[in-house]
Amino acid sequence: MKALIPAAGLGTRFLPETKSVPKELFPVVNKPVIQYVVEEALAPEGVDEAVIINSHLKPQIEQYFSEDGALIAHLQEHEKNDLVAGVTEVAKLPVSFVYQDDPKGLGHAVLQGADKVGDEPFFVLLGDYFVPDKSMCLAMQEVSQAHDGCSVIAVASVPHDQVSRYGIIAGDVVPSPDGKTRGEEEPGAVLKLTGLIEKPAPEAAPTNLFIVGRYLLSSRVMELLKTQTPGAGGEIQLTDALSRLLEEEEMYAVVVDAKSGCDTGTPAAWAAVNARLVMEDPCLRAAFEEELGRKI
Ligand code: G1P
Repeated sequence: MKALIPAAGLGTRFLPETKSVPKELFPVVNKPVIQYVVEEALAPEGVDEAVIINSHLKPQIEQYFSEDGALIAHLQEHEKNDLVAGVTEVAKLPVSFVYQDDPKGLGHAVLQGADKVGDEPFFVLLGDYFVPDKSMCLAMQEVSQAHDGCSVIAVASVPHDQVSRYGIIAGDVVPSPDGKTRGEEEPGAVLKLTGLIEKPAPEAAPTNLFIVGRYLLSSRVMELLKTQTPGAGGEIQLTDALSRLLEEEEMYAVVVDAKSGCDTGTPAAWAAVNARLVMEDPCLRAAFEEELGRKI
């Protein structure tokens, strides 16, 4: 089973840095954002490969996950063996690449992974966001298993005036895998989907539940993406193909606490994620306070 990670965007929100460094390689504390996403993608049982959907304009991402014998030899020669483990560990991660050179939207990006996915279900993890404890995909897998392997997407509540920035779902609450029935916006709630709409105007949004960027999907969606016409913003939207999938198959959503994940999509969000991870780790926090010369 594969996990797809779309990462072909140009990172315009981070220009001019992204002229030469892909935003996926920006470090969060001590490793690049994309490594957190890859490690999260590989956590669910059955996922054997993370497939990064990259652009040929960003060969640095592939380079990051490649073996570098010359670097390792150099480190060993200079007795920096403590660094060798980290360098070899990254290259050992089961990561492969496909390419999307024409940025036609998220649905088009996901379609580039069709040959890798084959006829198995697959995960999609959007790369601007990662979940440090890796629990979100596991919760989705549990819901899928409780419903005959159906597709499951993670959703969270958002203020009503922000719904037009996201994909929004409609659905009916059903019991969660633990047997409890929760309120529609309560983390842990499970909804049987009745609709999905990409970037609706507030008056057209059926709920305040937005798609956070974690999907566990049936391979049928790849067939639907092949004929998907452009939608919101003139882009081929994954949400539109999922809306068509819903006409053929049952689908579910699990409500998550959006704050259990870290959004790195804007400079302010990226800085906040660094601060959060530092504050959550007592050793890092102590070292940080020492550098800063005061307590935080
Ligand atoms: C994409 C999806 C949208 C989802 C969002 C989460 O939108 O199309 O459904 O809610 O990611 O970040 P984008 O951010 O690419 O406009």
